[in-house]
Amino acid sequence: MVLADSEQLIEELLWADRLLLGVPMYNFSVPSTFKVYVDNIVRVNRTFTFDPTSFTFEGLAINKKALVITPSAGNFTPNTPLGSMNFCETYLRSILGFIGIEDITIIAVPNQFMPDEIRQQSIEQARVKLITIAATW
Ligand SMILES: Cc1cc2nc3c(=O)[nH]c(=O)nc-3n(C[C@H](O)[C@H](O)[C@H](O)COP(=O)(O)O)c2cc1C
Repeated sequence: MVLADSEQLIEELLWADRLLLGVPMYNFSVPSTFKVYVDNIVRVNRTFTFDPTSFTFEGLAINKKALVITPSAGNFTPNTPLGSMNFCETYLRSILGFIGIEDITIIAVPNQFMPDEIRQQSIEQARVKLITIAATW
């Protein structure tokens, strides 16, 4: 049963040519529910291979694009006080890259616990970026 669910998620992933993911930052990383999804789709000989002779890995989920929207309470812009604590984005890039997805766009939506004006500004900036991306993605 567990394996059947995993197979279904992998089939869906391998079939798709675009992945649109909404992944909020939870405790500087991804939510545990998203991690469960990852644990179901990252499987040897299904979404990556491992060669024990050369000790190399190769992703099998190729020819795909991923667009990830990551809201957060804080601001994790590089070179700001919290910049080095954005394990959400680094994890997403690493794990998607590991299974072969190289074309990854991450749209951060920071400042979601800030006063409404700042929060709305952040949403608007993300919206503008997404409209631009939607034209060519
Ligand atoms: C359990 C939990 C942990 C969170 N951890 C962080 C965090 O480490 N950094 C941050 O900036 N925001 C954090 N947040 C805030 C969320 O990233 C923010 O509310 C985001 O907009 C979540 O979207 P959602 O409310 O639609 O799930 C956390 C929220 C929750 C519920």
